[in-house]
Amino acid sequence: MFGHVEPYAGDPILGLVEKFLNDPRAEKVNLGIGIYFDENGRLPVPASVAAAEKARAAEPQPRSYLPMEGLAEYRRAVQELLFAGCAALDEGRIATVQTLGGSGALKLGADFLHQWFPDAEVYVSDPTWDNHKSIFEGAGCTVGTYPYYDAETVGVRFDAMLDFFNGLPERSVLLLHPCCHNPTGVDLSRDQWDTLLAVVKQRGLIPFMDIAYQGFGDGLQEDAYAIHKAAEMGLTVFVSNSFSKNLSLYGERVGGLSVVCPTAAEAELVLSRLKFGVRRIYSSPPAHGAFITAAVMNTPELRQSWENEVAAMRGRIRAMRQKLYDTLSRKLPGRNFDYFIKQRGMFSYTGLNPVQVQRLQDEFAVYLVGSGRMCVAGLNESNIDYVADAVAAVLQ
Ligand code: LMR
Repeated sequence: MFGHVEPYAGDPILGLVEKFLNDPRAEKVNLGIGIYFDENGRLPVPASVAAAEKARAAEPQPRSYLPMEGLAEYRRAVQELLFAGCAALDEGRIATVQTLGGSGALKLGADFLHQWFPDAEVYVSDPTWDNHKSIFEGAGCTVGTYPYYDAETVGVRFDAMLDFFNGLPERSVLLLHPCCHNPTGVDLSRDQWDTLLAVVKQRGLIPFMDIAYQGFGDGLQEDAYAIHKAAEMGLTVFVSNSFSKNLSLYGERVGGLSVVCPTAAEAELVLSRLKFGVRRIYSSPPAHGAFITAAVMNTPELRQSWENEVAAMRGRIRAMRQKLYDTLSRKLPGRNFDYFIKQRGMFSYTGLNPVQVQRLQDEFAVYLVGSGRMCVAGLNESNIDYVADAVAAVLQ
């Protein structure tokens, strides 16, 4: 019956987690998947989340279905976090649905775009998170790449990127990373965003901004610069967001898809179609994570506590970047490790080649994604020297 079914080769990131868990070596270090671990190598439960859960558990709640579009106070919190101060928010021009993480938002957005802009091709950065391509292709879109990462400068090939965008047909879709680019950690500057979004506007392109690491770059609002700018410029922009990392709620699948529309009437129209999209895939989203997230976002003391916690996570990531830079620069004086401190967010494109990555895994039980992407949020004071030694060994 199923002999013709083609096996799934496995996911380059999730497959690595399985391999890591099965590795019996005590010294193993997981720098593969994009998960923030604390100084003790544990998945944190933020105090803000713990307080919201305690309050919610104090009184057992009936468990009805949420509406197709999700919990109203959660959706409002998503909008306020992403579009603080934007006129589009007051003007009711943003359609937001609660989604199953950022991936669910990408899927809903991809389905919508493919249905209503069937000829639009989608372009993702070279490189990008592998699943971007899969999700859009899975929705039936044709997916290409635009120039992005410059290995020579460990920067962005900005002129090539602009030239490429300038040559695209109107209504082409651009998957953009507003902050903490995954996998490279290399972001655009504000000036570059201004220039790029002017081209997007002039060419009539459709930006789709995927923000999964808000707060891990320069700050919660700072990291949303490109989103604010696009909304202020009157662009129609899709935004997928996730609370997996910044609330440490990975398994609750808390995300959102927001579409900034030209008018409030169009926002209503788009929302209605997104609801239909939800209905025909999974009917309505899960409730628990949305209640917890909404409580943290909308309760002033919890919100303050969370903002402090995000700042602490950001600070720890930066400290680890600095320490890795210092240690490796000392060990291998001829080499330039500037990129560890220039990049933003959880990820660092280390420039290690697949053979070196494999050696790290085989000889040292240090796990990085095959592309050379390292999740620096998996480093801590106890493992960083070991990792630096291992990296230095494979680089020599
Ligand atoms: C990652 O890039 O490691 C994360 O976004 C987790 C995932 O689902 O791949």
